[in-house]
Amino acid sequence: MIQITERQWFLKWFLVIGAVLGYICVCVEGLGVNWGTMATHKLPPKAVVQMLKDNGIKKVKLFDAEQSTMSALAGSDIEVMIAIPNDQLAVMTNYDRAKQWVKKNVTRYHFNGGVNIKYVAVGNEPFLTSYNGSFLNVTFPALQNIQNALNEAGVGDSIKATVPLNADVYFSPPTTPYPSAGRFRSDISDLMTQIVGFLSKNNAPFTVNIYPFLSLYGNDDFPFDYAFFDGASQPVVDSNGIQYTNVFDANFDTLVSALKAAGFVDMPIIVGEVGWPTDGDKNANVGNAYRFYNGLLPRLAGNKGTPLRPGYIEVYLFGLLDEDAKSVAPGSFERHWGIYRYDGQPKYALDISGQGQNKFLVPAQNVEYLAKKWCVFNANAKDLSKLAENINFACTFSDCTALGYGSSCNSLDANGNASYAFNMYFQVQNQDPLACNFQGLASVTTQNISQGNCNFTIQIVSSSSRGSSLVTSVFITLLMFMWV
Ligand SMILES: *[C@@H]1O[C@H](CO)[C@@H](O)[C@H](O)[C@H]1NC(C)=O
Ligand SMILES: *[C@@H]1O[C@H](CO)[C@@H](O)[C@H](O)[C@H]1NC(C)=O
Ligand SMILES: *[C@@H]1O[C@H](CO)[C@@H](O)[C@H](O)[C@H]1NC(C)=O
Ligand SMILES: *[C@@H]1O[C@H](CO)[C@@H](O)[C@H](O)[C@H]1NC(C)=O
Ligand SMILES: *[C@@H]1O[C@H](CO)[C@@H](O)[C@H](O)[C@H]1NC(C)=O
Ligand SMILES: *[C@@H]1O[C@H](CO)[C@@H](O)[C@H](O)[C@H]1NC(C)=O
Repeated sequence: MIQITERQWFLKWFLVIGAVLGYICVCVEGLGVNWGTMATHKLPPKAVVQMLKDNGIKKVKLFDAEQSTMSALAGSDIEVMIAIPNDQLAVMTNYDRAKQWVKKNVTRYHFNGGVNIKYVAVGNEPFLTSYNGSFLNVTFPALQNIQNALNEAGVGDSIKATVPLNADVYFSPPTTPYPSAGRFRSDISDLMTQIVGFLSKNNAPFTVNIYPFLSLYGNDDFPFDYAFFDGASQPVVDSNGIQYTNVFDANFDTLVSALKAAGFVDMPIIVGEVGWPTDGDKNANVGNAYRFYNGLLPRLAGNKGTPLRPGYIEVYLFGLLDEDAKSVAPGSFERHWGIYRYDGQPKYALDISGQGQNKFLVPAQNVEYLAKKWCVFNANAKDLSKLAENINFACTFSDCTALGYGSSCNSLDANGNASYAFNMYFQVQNQDPLACNFQGLASVTTQNISQGNCNFTIQIVSSSSRGSSLVTSVFITLLMFMWV
């Protein structure tokens, strides 16, 4: 009898300990990634989902709810944050439209073997100062409508609406420049309080994007080491005595303080985006990205949290893949945020388990490339009067951000520059022979013209590029005709 009781007792503790360990494990593995698709040549969604699985990535954040992406995610059990783009926010202020959106993009996938949707992102950084207040009036009504529609559809307990916001919605006053003095930006502080109140009532999290790279970008006074996690920087000492040696913690705790000041001490916070780009700026390179992630990931895995919020933080890295069609309004680095290149090849060692091992992510499988052909400047060309125009044309319709100051191809000579531009355009046009003429200034070569750190890339075969060659040929001819 006693033996059995002891065994039961043991079993009970075994289960409790198991549950606790299981819980911790979920936390350690709780890392997510942002999967953006603003690329001229997209990897097949199924290949991307396989890549996520191969790397044990169990959370993904999207910027829309495209059907092809959702179908690829179906049955995978990966937790998904889907999104409503900013240009759809105004429409969502109509409750019937919000209900339609939820029906079409949430409940439709809500079945056993469907998509494991956890969050709906309502807008993307809608209060960014550079938007000049365009979305101030529509974001909160859209958020309310979407959460209410989720609730009405009976899925509101497990699926939460949230608004991914840029860290520019809060600040510390210049007179008290430390985290504990954090407040919401004064022009939106009433609105922020209403939004946070609504999130809180629905047990939904606050989502913030934090970018140490951007603190550094264009601000030469920013202490370089403070962007990283190795403690090499002079600490910022808060009035409460807490010492901050990295801007990520300081920024996060500024938000914690802003929330506290607004009356929400326990509001859960998700970091919707954090990462480091590898090209397009003097600080955007593989070495700095490696240093950043290899400081960040072990802290996340160790559930270190921040001084004001120790413990697990739900974090989504930005981003999964390079996107050569993103707007470069914020800067040339914008197309180089991927932990993978455009073709699903990892760029540097990154141990996402946070154990600090020097290992690479598993690449995408069975990637199909176009032929080993490049478009190159024809050095024998006689008339160079139209060269600048042609380079300009090529770069307008492809990605030449690697040519800029501080970027990987900045040391090319003038001929190299022309070749780089022509090749990028040629690849975007799926190596259409007509896309490598440039009024006699270019020709196709099978010789790899990459030099040093500068890669002359070959594009991948993407589903969107198949079978459109005739149409593109006509289109290119027309464009060239109109442009030059
Ligand atoms: C569902 O999401 C897709 C992709 O983001 C969007 O194009 C579509 O308009 C949405 N459906 C409705 C009914 O709003
Ligand atoms: C915001 O205003 C500035 C200056 O007035 C303008 O250049 C910019 O295009 C505007 N941006 C948007 C998104 O409306
Ligand atoms: C937002 O609403 C206010 C008050 O109704 C109005 O004055 C303002 O023009 C609106 N802003 C935008 C960008 O629509
Ligand atoms: C190559 O192009 C880049 C970007 O347009 C420019 O900054 C650089 O000066 C060019 N180099 C030469 C040698 O023309
Ligand atoms: C071209 O050469 C570069 C560096 O020499 C190399 O990294 C790249 O893989 C080559 N590209 C192809 C398509 O073989
Ligand atoms: C160029 O490609 C090689 C692998 O083919 C890679 O090791 C290198 O980091 C790439 N350089 C850039 C700037 O992307």
